[in-house]
Amino acid sequence: MTLGRRLHGLWTRLAIVAILISIQTCAAITPASSDPLSSVILTSTSALSSESESASASSAPLPSSASPSSFASPSGPSGSGSISISRSTIVSSTVSASAPNGTASFSSSAFSTSFVSVTSAACPTISASMSGPETTLGSTGLSIPLSSSLSANATSTGSANVSASFTPGATASGTGPGGINVQPSPDPATPHPFTPFPSPTQSPVAGIFPATDPLSPPPVTSDPQLIPDFNPAWTTAWTKAKALISGLDIEQKVNISTGVGWELGLCVGNIPAVPIDGSGVWKGLCLEDSPLGVRDTDFVTVFPAGINAASTFQRSLIRQRGIAMGKEHMGKGVHVALGPMMNLGRIAQGGRNWEGFGADPFLSGESAYETILGMQSAGVQACAKHFINNEQEHERTMESSNVDDRAEHELYAHPFMRSVMAGVASVMCSYNQINETYACENDRTINQILKGEFGFRGYVMSDWSATESTLGAVSGLDMTMPGDITFGSGTSYFGGNLTAYVNNGSITEARLDDMATRVVASWYFLHQDDPSYPKVSFNAFNPVDPATNGRVDVQDDHYKIVRAIGAASTVLLLNKNETLPLQKPRSIVLIGSDAGPSPGGPNEFVDGGGDAGILAMGWGSGTANFSYLISPLEAIQHRARQDRTTVNWHLNDFDLLGAGNVAIQADIALVFINADSGEDYITVDGNEGDRKNLTAWHGGDDLVQAVAAQNPNTVVVVHSVGPLILEPWIEHPNVSAVLWAGLGGTETGNGLVDVLYGDVNPSGRLPYTIAKDPSDYPAQLVLGGGDNTILQIPYTEGIFIDYRHFDEAGIVPRFEFGFGLSYTTFAYSSLKVVEVTNGTAPDSLVSSWKASKPGPTGEGSVVALWLHEPAYAVTFTVRNTGSVAGTEIPQLYVQHPKSAEEPPSILKGFTDVFLQPRQSTRVTLTLSRYDLSIWDVVAQSWVRPVGRIELAVGASSRDFRLSGAIP
Ligand SMILES: *[C@@H]1O[C@H](CO)[C@@H](O)[C@H](O)[C@H]1NC(C)=O
Ligand SMILES: *[C@@H]1O[C@H](CO)[C@@H](O)[C@H](O)[C@H]1NC(C)=O
Ligand SMILES: *[C@@H]1O[C@H](CO)[C@@H](O)[C@H](O)[C@H]1NC(C)=O
Ligand SMILES: *[C@@H]1O[C@H](CO)[C@@H](O)[C@H](O)[C@H]1NC(C)=O
Repeated sequence: MTLGRRLHGLWTRLAIVAILISIQTCAAITPASSDPLSSVILTSTSALSSESESASASSAPLPSSASPSSFASPSGPSGSGSISISRSTIVSSTVSASAPNGTASFSSSAFSTSFVSVTSAACPTISASMSGPETTLGSTGLSIPLSSSLSANATSTGSANVSASFTPGATASGTGPGGINVQPSPDPATPHPFTPFPSPTQSPVAGIFPATDPLSPPPVTSDPQLIPDFNPAWTTAWTKAKALISGLDIEQKVNISTGVGWELGLCVGNIPAVPIDGSGVWKGLCLEDSPLGVRDTDFVTVFPAGINAASTFQRSLIRQRGIAMGKEHMGKGVHVALGPMMNLGRIAQGGRNWEGFGADPFLSGESAYETILGMQSAGVQACAKHFINNEQEHERTMESSNVDDRAEHELYAHPFMRSVMAGVASVMCSYNQINETYACENDRTINQILKGEFGFRGYVMSDWSATESTLGAVSGLDMTMPGDITFGSGTSYFGGNLTAYVNNGSITEARLDDMATRVVASWYFLHQDDPSYPKVSFNAFNPVDPATNGRVDVQDDHYKIVRAIGAASTVLLLNKNETLPLQKPRSIVLIGSDAGPSPGGPNEFVDGGGDAGILAMGWGSGTANFSYLISPLEAIQHRARQDRTTVNWHLNDFDLLGAGNVAIQADIALVFINADSGEDYITVDGNEGDRKNLTAWHGGDDLVQAVAAQNPNTVVVVHSVGPLILEPWIEHPNVSAVLWAGLGGTETGNGLVDVLYGDVNPSGRLPYTIAKDPSDYPAQLVLGGGDNTILQIPYTEGIFIDYRHFDEAGIVPRFEFGFGLSYTTFAYSSLKVVEVTNGTAPDSLVSSWKASKPGPTGEGSVVALWLHEPAYAVTFTVRNTGSVAGTEIPQLYVQHPKSAEEPPSILKGFTDVFLQPRQSTRVTLTLSRYDLSIWDVVAQSWVRPVGRIELAVGASSRDFRLSGAIP
């Protein structure tokens, strides 16, 4: 969620008004030869027959008939210029055209590829075909709703501005890879029929696909081979919900879908009881942030951020964190905990990356899966967010992420699919547009992908004030949060508006029933109808009011999990001459403000919106209040007494001379640097959510160099929200060790001490790539926008984000994805790959998959058991060849045949093994057919690529030790 400060998107609907340009006849086409600026208007374009066939292969909803549209071709001799197509926005492109009756070619500068063809019925001699640079993305096509009028002006040699405006329902379509796919706005005046999604037809299979209640998920294992089947539990919950709904009138059902309004309840989001006094069967819902703890209240634990959970690469720790967070939310009376967050680290400086699980879809998916199984086992509803493509903060409510269908499925939607497989109760749609259609009214992403392909049976809520229209309900939005159109407006797109739309028939009551049923079913699904479920005992908007704040202490012994994750998520990036672990040094000095406590206390900055002292979380709604916060200074002093080590410190980041002076006098100099980011409603030091750059804050690079200039045992400790460029000092001969500690939560200092002193042998792995240069990353923050413009963010890199790009382009990173050192060493041997034969998939389906044929499509098809059950087992030996015990994180990468056009290596398995010195063990990781498939955009199905699929097992995305192939 967010606090205010967003432009409202209403104007976008106004842009639909067609600009009517005078219609000229064909005869008017021929310009006066002296006229440098000739205007030609073509009219009455019909649907593009040659393209409509392939366009209809796309699963995007295309209106069956296209209204007349027109396109103005430049007249005169060949020319070139620019074209802008506007619907809710402007797409700047380049057009080159020949005239009078030639073709106009369209090449889009906003998207990797696009193609539009327009012919004129009125002027048959003139056709304009617009095509762009073709790449091999291979998408099914694009559709752009065109208005009844377009116009163009062109000079014979100069530039042309072509603008188009669109009316609802008018469509022109074309084929071509890539491009945008704007969904037509539903017409408020027409009725929108609703057919309930059929129930998934899968049945449980004992021992493989067990019927599972969310309160009792399968235990965490190193390689999850058991797939929980939540369908029976959902079906039971749906039956109860339908019974409850059947007794309600339209207004009551609308209330179940409409938040009470900003700051009008105890929680950050509130669904009212029915009846409102709570005397009836429906008690309403409390929705509360955040993905790392219970926000806006006291006596809670601040857990390590999501990025640290991912850094552990340890399922059991990720699950335990989920369980503990779930218990704390439930203990405070929260029904819906707003997390986990699973947008990918596509942009290195993305403001909210730290809330999520890094830059790899598989790692994010598994982290989301374990987190949700954990949270919901405690009884609270989890919320998978932000759906989808909210990968930067800048202009998040006024930007369009333009993403091709393959990248959407293979990368961005994958963690949401794993969330659905974990039985997630709710999903939050994001602020941004996808292909120029807002996420909360996006039929393609919500109805087709989430509820269709993934068979999601819970409900979709808006991000706070991300609802754009009442008709969002038609596109799959089930609940608006916090309820009002803008914070405190007192108006709502749902509420009275939804009631009116249902009463006048433009939204069916069947759809309203579906919305309310999904919400109520999720409540039954988690057994929140149990009368012993705790009452809300805090007041998010008035935490000092004694009447509404019960000060319930929900921390239990969760500090242990925080500390364990803090240590297990710390990545040892460099360790020359066994500088670490510390061996009873005579003296150490801690340098940098990040080593010590914040002068203003742990909660000095509201929502973490500041950076002073130890950085243990980022800023924004994804935060919680510290009950206490252990700084490195405190933890190290406590530990150093055991060895009678002298501890000195110097917490001023900018007194470089002083830092050098104290550094000279110590055996070991620990330099602490950090970098912070957060949500866009808070700006810290000029960083509007996203980071301005990838440089350490507070002059951290200078501080490291000042210390390294004086002390040969300089150890750098980094608390950062994401990648930093380390080049200014990483090769300095005196920088002898680097610990990458992320955001460790309330026990940050203790977790660090465990690794520094070797009580925990580091096994954290980078969940993203650390580059040598910012420009090495394939995607950059897109700046600009503002006013009434939708900022276009083309995801032109497609499936090549983070290490996938570095590998493909042959760029050597400083530290690769999956990298991390240990105080011991490990050897890998004896790889064996076998087909799993005791699966449930019918032979016909298996052989069809092996022959690279598309599988069945339809509701729930993407989460089908045959696709996800173990199909191949990869077994190998790992041996601890060093002298101390430690945990190794073996990683399994799939290497597809060239023809698949996949990145060279993609992560599809990992586990953690703890080994004593000289101990070895056999490790098995399984791969499903899904793991080995790629998304076929034409077939709209997961398909095995043709050819030999190879496998690599190793210690990082570049440190492969064993190789094999799928038999
Ligand atoms: C215009 O169309 C006519 C008839 O189809 C054709 O003969 C002529 O070559 C075309 N002129 C140009 C410049 O393409
Ligand atoms: C075309 O040129 C005319 C005359 O200069 C101008 O009024 C009109 O706005 C232009 N249209 C576009 C789309 O640029
Ligand atoms: C966005 O447009 C691309 C290109 O046409 C298409 O492949 C993709 O499916 C579209 N996604 C959505 C959500 O409309
Ligand atoms: C209904 O929605 C419109 C915007 O479409 C808004 O202006 C109006 O205030 C809403 N009505 C209510 C009762 O909230």
